[in-house]
Amino acid sequence: MARCASEREYPSEGLGWRPPDLSSIRLETDRLVIRSYELDDVDAVFRAISSCRGELLPWMVWVRTQHLEPASTAQYIAAQIMNTRRPETWDGIGLGVFLKETGEYIGGSGVHDVRRDTASCETGYWIHTAHTGRGYATEVCRRAIDWALCPQNRGGLGLRRVRIFCSSANPASIRVIEKLGIRKEVEMPGDYWVEGYGCTTRLGWGVLADEWNGRTVTG
Ligand SMILES: CC(C)(COP(=O)(O)OP(=O)(O)OC[C@H]1O[C@@H](n2cnc3c(N)ncnc32)[C@H](O)[C@@H]1OP(=O)(O)O)[C@@H](O)C(=O)NCCC(=O)NCCS
Repeated sequence: MARCASEREYPSEGLGWRPPDLSSIRLETDRLVIRSYELDDVDAVFRAISSCRGELLPWMVWVRTQHLEPASTAQYIAAQIMNTRRPETWDGIGLGVFLKETGEYIGGSGVHDVRRDTASCETGYWIHTAHTGRGYATEVCRRAIDWALCPQNRGGLGLRRVRIFCSSANPASIRVIEKLGIRKEVEMPGDYWVEGYGCTTRLGWGVLADEWNGRTVTG
């Protein structure tokens, strides 16, 4: 979620967080592999997004203008790869979600809006419609938070805070966050435009490393 104008225009060094080596990210859960995209993923990612574009809309607005042809997916993946080569400006990454058993690509997650002053980030997720209702989004989100908040010397990003936002009109996504058991922090009426729903309430949750690490960090 956007910061106020003075934070954006006059960024402070603050905590001065710096990213670890990001050249290859591979996180595992019982059922899933969550990893950096590779150029070989273009076809699978394009096909998956194309085949559930209608369901991803209106929640993931980028599907309206991106991944409309394989070249756009290739451009997206190349940009993710190139970002990891620029640690001085790196502010987030999209990660692919794959079934461990079959290797099938089933969704996306990642960290976004990484802020170096507060050592914080946002996370998000989507799961292909053919695979929803099986707890995958919750599994992905829990692992993404683990990774974000885990210290760098144990394989994490070493951030100190994670934010998640969603619209009040998206009950499945709200439920995913509720299942994580993290703190609900903001409720902003009329702040989140969702096509077909209009101005909905922006809901926000957050968790600090000290709160999370005691529970689930896997390193
Ligand atoms: C939201 C989304 C990520 C959920 O993925 P998923 O893998 O099905 O999530 P999970 O199985 O981990 O959990 C979903 C929960 O929502 C519940 N749910 C699903 N539809 C619901 C609805 N219409 N109303 C209330 N709860 C609902 C499920 O029952 C489940 O809860 P439970 O385990 O207590 O039964 C997936 O539907 C999706 O990608 N949607 C489109 C993109 C999106 O909205 N992304 C999030 C943007 S903030």
